[in-house]
Amino acid sequence: MTASKIYVAGHRGMVGGAIVRRLLAQGHPRERIVTRTHAELDLTDQAAVQAFFAAEKPDEVYLAAAKVGGIHANNTYPADFIYVNLMIQANVINSAFANGVRKLLFLGSSCIYPKAVQQPMREDALLTGTLEPTNEPYAIAKIAGIKLCESYNRQYGASHGVDYRSVMPTNLYGPGDNYHPENSHVVPAMIRRFHEAKVSNAPVVMVWGTGKPMREFLHVDDMAAASVHVMTLPKSVYDQHTDPMLSHINVGFGEDLSIADLARTVAQVVGYRGDLRFDTTKPDGTMRKLMDSSRLRSLGWTPDVSLATGLAGAYRDFLENHA
Ligand SMILES: NC(=O)c1ccc[n+]([C@@H]2O[C@H](COP(=O)([O-])OP(=O)(O)OC[C@H]3O[C@@H](n4cnc5c(N)ncnc54)[C@H](OP(=O)(O)O)[C@@H]3O)[C@@H](O)[C@H]2O)c1
Repeated sequence: MTASKIYVAGHRGMVGGAIVRRLLAQGHPRERIVTRTHAELDLTDQAAVQAFFAAEKPDEVYLAAAKVGGIHANNTYPADFIYVNLMIQANVINSAFANGVRKLLFLGSSCIYPKAVQQPMREDALLTGTLEPTNEPYAIAKIAGIKLCESYNRQYGASHGVDYRSVMPTNLYGPGDNYHPENSHVVPAMIRRFHEAKVSNAPVVMVWGTGKPMREFLHVDDMAAASVHVMTLPKSVYDQHTDPMLSHINVGFGEDLSIADLARTVAQVVGYRGDLRFDTTKPDGTMRKLMDSSRLRSLGWTPDVSLATGLAGAYRDFLENHA
């Protein structure tokens, strides 16, 4: 039997790249994985996306292309964050449907949950409260992505065999991360700062805030494994563990740690021997953010990569590609 033809949208990104690696590691033939760079195919261009699907006719789609960024970027470019993400999702999901794609996996984010949500965050907290204002446009786009998948399932599931699923990752780190000095997430930012402090023999590294907020981190290779796991579950199993209008699945590590402990672990992995101090004049943000990933656990998936092992690999990637 010929292997499915799989389109991975966003394959040059951290998550899309990891999904391609995972598929290849599982023996999926390279020639049955379709990719396009942003320059080759702008996913906000409806006609181009439709033409691409009509020409390639993939069987399955992993939708890991998105406009992604930190608080500063979200605050500065809110129009871009909502417009680009809505367009990418609407174009890819509708063109997939129009060209006979039955299986699609949409990648969302934990920011879909309300600001004051109970911790750990369960899937059924979706749309129960006000979102965090800084990334509301992005979160609204991601919620729309989940609802696009659900609506196509509800309208075309029985008649066309449409089976579009969604996963919501916690904070990710690993190879392919963004190490930009001002615009990166906490793990890559700490890797860069501790590395630079080690190289320059700086006696102290300042960490923003009290170090007390608790956060959860998942290695991107685990995220890719979870994505393929969810995509390949039999439909009856997926349906049994989800509802037609509450169909997304959280993907987390299952444990959190304080920012102070994260900083100590990064310092150790990088080999920085100086002092660590906390700049308590800087804001802490939400005190705890942890996914409830019990839905995914009950579907037979658990993460493999410990934080210490994952950080060591991320630091190697940083040294090879970003230092
Ligand atoms: N990283 C995390 O911690 C994290 C956490 C939770 C959820 N997620 C989700 O996971 C998904 C992937 O994130 P990521 O971290 O892998 O992001 P990423 O590294 O920035 O990758 C996103 C990819 O999408 C491509 N892209 C963006 N706009 C495009 C367009 N208009 N046309 C074609 N391609 C376009 C980008 O290409 P260019 O760079 O060339 O524009 C990039 O290759 C996102 O949906 C994100 O919300 C990530």
